[in-house]
Amino acid sequence: PSARTFYDEVGGAPVFERLVARFYAGVRSDPVLAPLYPQDDWEGAEWRLRAFLTQYWGGPTTYSEQRGHPRLRMRHAPFAIGAAQRDAWLSHMRAAVDSLELSPEQDATLWGYMEMAARSMQNRWPDD
Ligand code: HEM
Repeated sequence: PSARTFYDEVGGAPVFERLVARFYAGVRSDPVLAPLYPQDDWEGAEWRLRAFLTQYWGGPTTYSEQRGHPRLRMRHAPFAIGAAQRDAWLSHMRAAVDSLELSPEQDATLWGYMEMAARSMQNRWPDD
């Protein structure tokens, strides 16, 4: 039997559903972030992030079956992501992670990843 994944440990599909729904509720009402997203496909965007995070943390691999290799930096290249966009993204993710009421260890694991990933997605700097 394979080891219990972080995905299972925190509660599986319902927890990732809540995380991403809460996150996108924030993004949709954010004047800095909302314009970057496909206005006619919020449900698709929500599916993509949920499926990616599910796969990343050891759940079903539907994301790559449908979308291929994540290549997230490349997929974010069309969007101008400076410090303001990165920080706005992280603030909605922070609220979404808080809403899950994870254990301190689980919270630190998930949040450490989100901060690292958001920094790595930045593709605009003040001197550009
Ligand atoms: C897609 C913005 C960080 C994961 C997108 C899209 C936008 C966006 C506008 C297109 C929406 C869609 O149609 O799917 C941003 C901004 C970020 C950020 C402003 C700030 C740093 C992240 C991070 C992750 C992530 C940290 C992972 C933890 C994804 C995924 C997709 C996506 C999985 C869908 C990729 C695909 O299959 O096409 N993001 N993003 N993003 N983002 Fe981000």
